[in-house]
Amino acid sequence: MRPFIICHMVTSIDGRLHPSRFTAAASRLSASQLASHYESVAEQFEADGWIVGRKTMSEMAKGSERAAASKPIATREPYLADRKDRNLAIAIDPKGRVHYGKDNIGGDHIVAVLAEAVADSYLAELREDGVSYIFAGPEGDDLSGAMAQLASLFGAKKLLLEGGGILNGAFLRHRLIDEFSTLIYPAVDGVAGTPSIIDYNGADGRQPGAGQTLRLIGCEALDGGMVWLRHAVGVIS
Ligand SMILES: NC(=O)c1ccc[n+]([C@@H]2O[C@H](COP(=O)([O-])OP(=O)(O)OC[C@H]3O[C@@H](n4cnc5c(N)ncnc54)[C@H](OP(=O)(O)O)[C@@H]3O)[C@@H](O)[C@H]2O)c1
Repeated sequence: MRPFIICHMVTSIDGRLHPSRFTAAASRLSASQLASHYESVAEQFEADGWIVGRKTMSEMAKGSERAAASKPIATREPYLADRKDRNLAIAIDPKGRVHYGKDNIGGDHIVAVLAEAVADSYLAELREDGVSYIFAGPEGDDLSGAMAQLASLFGAKKLLLEGGGILNGAFLRHRLIDEFSTLIYPAVDGVAGTPSIIDYNGADGRQPGAGQTLRLIGCEALDGGMVWLRHAVGVIS
């Protein structure tokens, strides 16, 4: 069993990823009020935590690389630090590139999802920081196995997948998204080639949503002209 996974993203009307590139809020609209919808909608799902890709987590984690004082860890068993009943902040970071320096992001307990090939010294650093970790196979690409561990080891029943587009694409390709929650910001980006909220870059060149369907289950206009769409993901039988 794996958790129910909702991909929760904010986008411009042309599906782009970077809010810093969006056109400005129209007069008498508050950019900060528009931005606040992301967290308030996320809270409504009452999820057990959130998942992000290595690049997105790198923007939030403020630690720096250091030599851990303790011995390198040679085993590749999951490590559960002291979670203290907190929600989970999950980073899919196969190469072990993110440095934390603490055990939480915004109060949520960090869980790193790693490749078994990661350096022994990195595991010692995570333990010193109080960060939990699990393994997604030798190369770190067994996303289904990692999600099953989040259910069995951490009791996660519902998780939000919060980008970026590359990770969302990988989850869609592996049929790990049960629902999309999309906030459409009243703005455009508009430049050809700019990253979008689903940006599959796998070597197989497949359309990541092949064999799947989307059914609209919610549509709501929020203050300031943000539109909240919900789609259930199905599988063609
Ligand atoms: N609009 C929104 O709602 C929203 C939400 C979140 C983030 N963002 C923005 O999105 C940007 C980053 O997005 P992004 O798409 O460039 O990066 P991303 O999805 O955050 O991270 C991509 C990285 O995840 C790792 N990864 C782990 N498993 C993978 C797999 N199976 N397939 C592919 N990659 C895998 C890879 O790390 P390695 O390269 O180390 O292998 C890959 O480079 C940030 O600027 C952030 O601010 C926007």
